[in-house]
Amino acid sequence: MTRALFAALLTLALLVLGPACSSEDSAPPAIEPSATAAPAATATTTPASAAATLQPDGDRILGYVKKLADEIGARPAGSAKEDEAVAFIAGHLRALGYDVTIQDFGVTSEASRSASLSISAPSTQSPPALPLGRSASGSVQGSIVPAGGGAPNEFPASVAGNIALIERGGLQFQQKVANAAAAGARAAIIYNNEPGSFLGSLTEGAIPAISISREDGQALLRDAQAGTLRGSISVGGLDGPIGHNVIAKPPGGACDTVTGGHFDSVPQAPGASDNATGTAATLELASLISQNGGMGAHCFVLWGAEENGLIGSRAFVNSLAPAERQRLKLVLNLDMVGVGEQAWWLIGTPRLQQQAQAVASQLGINAVPSSLFGASSDHATFIAEGIPSLMIHRWEDPLLHTPQDVSTRVQPQLLEEAARIGLALLHAMEAG
Ligand code: BES
Ligand code: ZN
Repeated sequence: MTRALFAALLTLALLVLGPACSSEDSAPPAIEPSATAAPAATATTTPASAAATLQPDGDRILGYVKKLADEIGARPAGSAKEDEAVAFIAGHLRALGYDVTIQDFGVTSEASRSASLSISAPSTQSPPALPLGRSASGSVQGSIVPAGGGAPNEFPASVAGNIALIERGGLQFQQKVANAAAAGARAAIIYNNEPGSFLGSLTEGAIPAISISREDGQALLRDAQAGTLRGSISVGGLDGPIGHNVIAKPPGGACDTVTGGHFDSVPQAPGASDNATGTAATLELASLISQNGGMGAHCFVLWGAEENGLIGSRAFVNSLAPAERQRLKLVLNLDMVGVGEQAWWLIGTPRLQQQAQAVASQLGINAVPSSLFGASSDHATFIAEGIPSLMIHRWEDPLLHTPQDVSTRVQPQLLEEAARIGLALLHAMEAG
């Protein structure tokens, strides 16, 4: 039997039998993997279990992109559209036989919580304010009362029930705010002792506390010394929307590798390129790995709330036990893999950059080690934790984060190349 005939028969068998396992609450993938002959270069370098018969198919991957970007559309963390995307992704992975769990996490972080200062007298103004880390949340209205540098003897009696205005320096922020609370203040403002604003943190916040710039602080101080200064401060809570990761593990649950990408989008964009493409390529890899002779210890995770500050990947890494972290040889992040004319960029752990470049070159694909400038994605979460990670990426996409990020711009051939590099890299991880 020729290789092509064998491949065609295998496809037919798969189409008739369907995926190895399915569950009641999930639809099988709309389009099943097709079989094409593996390139000779990969056949000689992959272990027997991975003698790849099924290969990535750009049009099939584009089908997943269309589902996410056209049918579902913008899917910001915590939205009903995000839930729809979770259901589609989890259904696809369950139908392939993976153990799929949905991980929930809070999207609002210390970095993204809100803070404001509104002055009502002697004039109306709203100087920019930043929350102090671990500040209590809430809104407080009252007189704004200068309290020097925040030492216990610097709080006048009139601060009780009001807002203390304290200069940075000398004592720790925690001490200043605790002293304000002990003097009866219901909130605290710390202004910088250097030009500009600053980010500060408490160890524990009994009252709402914010920071403002030196310039704004000194202006408030002058107003307070000249007469009545009144206003309100508000610090938002951490109880924001709930985001989700979709985690697919082989039965048994061990992960030597994790392949994934973020499936959320910014609210104003259907997120075809960023990042229905990486999500779709991940679904394709999960399909091929599950059908090319066993799942091994390859896991697949689609991260939520990347656009809110890599929050989903942070929740995922935080949930790993030390032994699970140590086992990971590769976290492969596919982000923006369908638009652009130039070479593939390989970003992350140097050893993985080199390995992926070698693998791509064997496939005849031009990929170069690079770095992200002024941008970030989920691989950064793992690298920060010392876990080997690599992002496969195409850099130039001017329509990122706009309503024009639609699926007609996505090139199936690029989706296919990304998946081919990914598949070969996963096989290379099995080998050594
Ligand atoms: N996919 C982008 C990362 C990106 C942006 C790569 C531009 C290449 C060019 C990602 O979804 C994103 O927008 N990341 C944010 C940072 C994140 C921490 C919110 C970014 O880069 O601004
Ligand atoms: Zn992205």
